[in-house]
Amino acid sequence: MDRYAVIGNPVAHSKSPWIHAEFARATGQAMTYVAIEAPRDGFARTVSAFRASGGRGANVTLPFKGEAFRYCAATSERARLAQAVNTLVLDRDEPWGDNTDGVGLVRDLEQNLAFALRGRSVLLMGAGGAAQGVAKPLGDAGAARIVVVNRDVAKAQALVDHLAGASGAALRACGYAELAGEGFDLVVNATSVGLSGELPVLPKDLFAPGALAYDMVYGRDTAFLAFARAAGARTADGSGMLVEQAAESFFIWRGVRPDTRAVLTALRVG
Ligand code: ATR
Repeated sequence: MDRYAVIGNPVAHSKSPWIHAEFARATGQAMTYVAIEAPRDGFARTVSAFRASGGRGANVTLPFKGEAFRYCAATSERARLAQAVNTLVLDRDEPWGDNTDGVGLVRDLEQNLAFALRGRSVLLMGAGGAAQGVAKPLGDAGAARIVVVNRDVAKAQALVDHLAGASGAALRACGYAELAGEGFDLVVNATSVGLSGELPVLPKDLFAPGALAYDMVYGRDTAFLAFARAAGARTADGSGMLVEQAAESFFIWRGVRPDTRAVLTALRVG
C-alpha cells in the first residue's frame, strides 16, 4: 500500500483522512492516508521520518504551510506565489511542494457554487497565509478587481505588491474603515476570525446585489456568515474548498482525478 498523510498541529479534527479514503475507494487506488501530529518545533523531522519510512506524499495544514514551503528543494509556481505549501510530493529525489488551496477555492466557486469569477469584483478579507494562497488564483480565474482588506494594512499592501504583474486583476490594499460605499460580488473571509475573535466592523453595503459570501473555515456557522446572511448575501462555508484542494492533491500524487460530488454531499450532511 502506498502511504500518504496530513501533517499539522492540531490535526486530530482533520477530515482529510476520510476524504482521501473515499477518493481511494472510488478510484480503486491502493493507498493509506493518516493524520500525523508534528510537534510545533518538529515539522521538518516529522516529514523526513515519514519520507524515510516510505511515505510518498503528504498534505500540510496549520501551522506548517510556510515551513513546508521552506522544507522543499523545489516548488510549483503557485506555491512560490503563495509562499506556502499544502501538498508535498516525497517520492522524488528531493521533496517537491505545491499549493492546491487556490485552485480548490476557484473550483468550488465555479463548479460547485456556479459562481463565475470572470469580470467580478472580489473582497479578500485577511492577508495571512490563507489569503496569500488564494489571491492569485482568484485573479487568474478572471476576477476584474481584488481588494485585500486587513487590520494591518501594510500586510495587505505587501500581498498586493507581491502579486502585482502576476495577477490579471486590478489590485488594491486597504483597511476596514475604508470599505464603505463599495459593493462586492464576492467576499472571501480568509482571516482567522472564523475560529475565534471578533468580526471587524463591516459596512452594511459591502455586498452587491446577488453577492456570495464565502468563509474559508468549514463546518461552522461563523460570525461572518451570519453577518452576510443578515445583509442578504448568499453564503458558503469552506467545505467545498477542502474537498477540491484534496482532489487536486490526490491528482498530483496518483494521476487520477476523483469525483468530488459524493464526498462533498456526505461532508455537508455529516
Ligand atoms: P492564516 O495562515 O490562517 O491566514 P495568519 O497568517 O496568522 O493565519 O493570518 C491571520 C489573518 O487573520 C490576518 O490577516 C489577521 O489580520 P492582521 O494581519 O491585521 O492581524 C486576520 N485576523 C485575525 N484576527 C482578526 C480579527 N479579530 N479581525 C480582523 N482580522 C483578523
